[in-house]
Amino acid sequence: MRRILKNLVALVALAMLVIAGVLVYVYGVLPRQQPAPDFRVEVTPELLERGDYLVNHVLLCNDCHSERDWTLYSGPAKPPLGAGRPCLVKESKAVGINFGTPGFPGRLCIRNITPDVETGIGAWTDGEILRAMREGISRDGEALFPIMPWFMYQEMSDEDAAAVIAYLRAQPPVRSFRPDRQLDFPLNIIYRFYPRTVDMPVRAPPRSDTVAYGRYLGEIARCEFCHTARVRGRVDPLPDRLYSGGVPFTMGTRTQYSMNLTPHPTGLGNWTKEMFIARFRVHTEPFPVTEEQNSEMDWVAFSGMTDADLGAIWDYLATLPPLESKLLDRAD
Ligand code: HEC
Ligand code: HEC
Repeated sequence: MRRILKNLVALVALAMLVIAGVLVYVYGVLPRQQPAPDFRVEVTPELLERGDYLVNHVLLCNDCHSERDWTLYSGPAKPPLGAGRPCLVKESKAVGINFGTPGFPGRLCIRNITPDVETGIGAWTDGEILRAMREGISRDGEALFPIMPWFMYQEMSDEDAAAVIAYLRAQPPVRSFRPDRQLDFPLNIIYRFYPRTVDMPVRAPPRSDTVAYGRYLGEIARCEFCHTARVRGRVDPLPDRLYSGGVPFTMGTRTQYSMNLTPHPTGLGNWTKEMFIARFRVHTEPFPVTEEQNSEMDWVAFSGMTDADLGAIWDYLATLPPLESKLLDRAD
């Protein structure tokens, strides 16, 4: 009897030790990170222009970091741009931004990225902004919840990141406080495992290599993200389903699926490069629409992409293995 009791005590002690070990790992070691790099952006007019192009026509940061006007085609971001949007909470109806089912397990606020010192990123260093964008680490060393698509920005070149930072800093500061994230168990533990560090320098492929450059653009513009299936709970698109579409987006009462962009007949098989580029020129201004006619893809913002950039994306897509489209049940 005594021995059993002794063993039991030992077992409980061991279990407590293991739990303590896991807690120390999750809260003491995770998220994986390195100090924010000593990265200083030298602002030039060319850099600001590049940042304007990237933020407003390629990366579309404000499509998440602002409220959207869904009475207009492709839901343009509403001013004040970059000031954040109402938090996602349990009662949220259409979560949008591709987080599957309605309602969020906790509270997640898409934050103010204007240069306001108190409520935005005005007091952050360039390196801290860079680390948040590419490595998913907030200023205080906490993990950023991966609705922030830092995992799609990991390959963003130092040069392009500098342009984005220069542009963000040049915008008018808006005072708009968004509370910190508050995640329910087990999400509050899981999300700490996601962040990954990035080694510098990061360079973009040369533009003359249109296939490689197109792959790069498809990644940072999140074409790949919206047009590729993922396993639930994973952030990375599935490599063997790359660009085969079928990802559901719920808009009000309607579900819309992203298109297959591989060269399969159910995808872009019957399209030409000219048709592909022309598709982006159809709607260059927002106009009033019903929910039925609307699109989750921000065609109006993307319509500002250059022919060269869209052409590079096409050149890359044309090299993909043709896959048949499968409509998926859920987005995450
Ligand atoms: C798909 C939606 C989405 C897009 C696109 C997006 N973000 Fe975010 N971003 C988020 C969310 C959600 C958070 C908050 C994450 C959290 O609090 O855990 C966030 C947080 C941040 C933060 C940290 C702010 C803070 O106070 O901790 C920065 C900086 C940031 N984003 C910059 C950008 C930039 C720059 C871009 C464009 C290159 C961008 N984001 C694009 C969703 C997005
Ligand atoms: C926020 C998610 C999202 C992003 C980002 C996104 N798409 Fe889409 N895309 C969709 C959805 C949803 C549809 C289906 C609805 C529609 O056709 O508007 C679609 C449709 C398309 C179509 C088919 C249009 C047609 O006429 O049938 C093409 C081509 C396309 N996307 C290309 C791209 C490219 C290239 C990018 C990157 C520059 C991109 N998408 C980024 C969600 C997205």
